[in-house]
Amino acid sequence: MTSPARPGARVLGFGTYRPVRVVTNDDLAQRVDTSDAWIRSRTGIATRRIADADETTVMMGTAAAEKALASSGIDPADVDLVIVATCTSPSQIPGAAPQIAHRLGSGTAGTFDINAGCAGFCYALSQAADTIRAGSARHVLVVATEKLSDYTDWDDRTTCVLLADGAGAAVVGAGERDEIGPAVWGHDGSRPEAIRVPGLGDNLFRMEGQAVFRWAIGLAPALRRICERAGVAPEQLAGIVPHQANLRIVEALANSLGAHNAVIARDVVDAGNTSAASVPLALSRLIDAGELRRGDPVLLFGFGAGLTYCGQVIRCP
Ligand code: ACO
Repeated sequence: MTSPARPGARVLGFGTYRPVRVVTNDDLAQRVDTSDAWIRSRTGIATRRIADADETTVMMGTAAAEKALASSGIDPADVDLVIVATCTSPSQIPGAAPQIAHRLGSGTAGTFDINAGCAGFCYALSQAADTIRAGSARHVLVVATEKLSDYTDWDDRTTCVLLADGAGAAVVGAGERDEIGPAVWGHDGSRPEAIRVPGLGDNLFRMEGQAVFRWAIGLAPALRRICERAGVAPEQLAGIVPHQANLRIVEALANSLGAHNAVIARDVVDAGNTSAASVPLALSRLIDAGELRRGDPVLLFGFGAGLTYCGQVIRCP
């Protein structure tokens, strides 16, 4: 084998899909014993989007992907690989990726799903970047799409106030310089029960909230390692986009870095916790609002079921 010059990898564009229906805290308080004040103070969430029957993981993922392709100026036929990060696919088999690729018209693309819980987008982005750098694809479409409402126990006030639906997508292609930094990842597999959907007849989401909270806060050193691996000092960051689990966790992780010039993503306030979709949704909002610009270094960090985490610094498209 020859070793041609190694291309860099960069994000060419993002796209999102947010379900139409908005569910307020007062709506939830009509079903379970909770209140707007409790939910806001413990989670920061004010409203969330909940998908209707026709807004499936495949439909939402396809819609987000179409926007990402349009904003990148890439024809679906020029996508060589589609990676879908989801833990809420309605079927165990087949995966969502071939269905989304088919709807898009990416007829010759390779396709696969990954399930890394709420860290899924960052893992998929890392795989996409490495695929581009290896020269195995011209363009990789990364889609994170979640319909957590299908797995929500609407009578469990400890979880139903958190979970929500949505999708985000990114097109990754080659560039003169690397704009997707090395991934930093890890896991604690000793606690599979901490966040779970058991399956085999029990398809409801369960979580040990306090244990997950403590584990997530303890991940702060990983954010510093992500900066070190990227060669970016925290004060150089323009943005920090942690998984939108809960505003208290988002702010604790982001503030632990001392990145004084960085805007912190707070999409959770009106989007809820959309698992793997939360990072691209939150990042796209900052870009669309003009709070992040082309070339800005942004730290992405996903964490959740597993317990697994992954993050990297990217440059904004
Ligand atoms: N409304 C009112 N009271 C509630 C509610 C609610 N929605 N939920 C729980 N409570 C009650 C509890 O029953 C408990 O009552 P008790 O003292 O009489 O027993 C009390 O509030 C305190 O409960 P805690 O569990 O201690 O509340 P806490 O402050 O830990 O907040 C929460 C709970 C919000 C779930 C928090 O633990 C948390 O955010 N954990 C992390 C969750 C997370 O981010 N998961 C992300 C990974 S999963 C994913 O992303 C898909």
